[in-house]
Amino acid sequence: MKFVVSFLTLLAIGSFETEAYTFSRCELVRNLRWHGIPENKMRDWVCLVEKESSRKTDAIGMQNSDGSWDHGLFQINDRYWCNRGGWPGKDCNVSCDQLRSADITEAVRCAKKIFARHGFSAWVAWRNYCQGALPHISHC
Ligand SMILES: *[C@@H]1O[C@H](CO)[C@@H](O)[C@H](O)[C@H]1NC(C)=O
Repeated sequence: MKFVVSFLTLLAIGSFETEAYTFSRCELVRNLRWHGIPENKMRDWVCLVEKESSRKTDAIGMQNSDGSWDHGLFQINDRYWCNRGGWPGKDCNVSCDQLRSADITEAVRCAKKIFARHGFSAWVAWRNYCQGALPHISHC
């Protein structure tokens, strides 16, 4: 059943791929699961996404003091990880536009790469807000 629901959610999102989309908490959980985020880290990822982007796939933050911008659900920084010019590039070999798509495949791939290198502490919002109480997802 969970498989079916995730798949339908993906199909629904695929049909308006480049438009803004705000996930509900449980939609986010299902999509992260679908993309291989492990269950024992799920609440940390949900917390991180909620604090970074309010679960809005096309989120773009305020410009950082070094002139860079942060993109998408995971607010991934374009100084190191994505290429702002529309072509894939930098450490995630991805364009920043792809990180703001309602199809979160590339955003999750890049977030996993950042996590593998730095852990959750790569994200300021996780450091500041996600080391105590985490969001409840048991109903998802
Ligand atoms: C980057 O991604 C593009 C496709 O999006 C691919 O053609 C290219 O080989 C990739 N480059 C690297 C270094 O992985």
